[in-house]
Amino acid sequence: MKDCKQRIIAPSILAADWSRVAEESNRAKETGGDWLHLDVMDGHFVDNISFGPTYVEAVRKSTDQYLDVHLMITRPDHFFPRFAKAGADNITVHVESDHDVAETLAGIREAGCHCGLALSPDTDFDDMRPFLDQIDLLLVMTVRPGYGGQAFMESETMPKVQEALAERERLGLSYHIEVDGGIDTKTVKIAAANGANVMVAGTSLFAAPDMAAAISEMRE
Ligand code: DX5
Ligand code: ZN
Repeated sequence: MKDCKQRIIAPSILAADWSRVAEESNRAKETGGDWLHLDVMDGHFVDNISFGPTYVEAVRKSTDQYLDVHLMITRPDHFFPRFAKAGADNITVHVESDHDVAETLAGIREAGCHCGLALSPDTDFDDMRPFLDQIDLLLVMTVRPGYGGQAFMESETMPKVQEALAERERLGLSYHIEVDGGIDTKTVKIAAANGANVMVAGTSLFAAPDMAAAISEMRE
């Protein structure tokens, strides 16, 4: 896994044209994307349904990029093995989901993937503290999970990014700090200034008139 100080841009396939998954995955890479972010939604943990392991497998076949799978599902403990098998490189689960978080994180690593833990805007950072030394990535959701194209929630989420950075330094850890939702060439600067290094962006990249220009602007 790359150094947690490096800026990583992760286009979210949620905002792509799903009927052209191979072209869209390659477009994300050719225009400078580092990772590909895949938002899995079960219609229960969030009020939307996206795709499952079979679609992740299709993306895996179409690109060699690092697949950053974000499970917005109620039972990540039950389903993560299928995403590992489908070719995920990182699997992020939600601290709010109904599972034994430590057990799930250990299981993801045993399956050969990096593991991430996410919290939604309404969840207190304290819920993450018991797991900070067991993760490769900490995802601070900057919108309420479920849909792309929402507005960046600065006041509710940037203090958590700051706290994640402070704790990483205090404890001598090296997890990535990722933000996801409403990230564009403006809000990326706010997120970076607070300590985030992995920037997930769907709408602002796949809908951009010039995806390469948008990605390089996100790196500044
Ligand atoms: C929310 C999803 C979105 C998606 C990117 O559940 O996780 O955040 O990845 O959304 P936008 O279009 O806001 O970049
Ligand atoms: Zn996501």
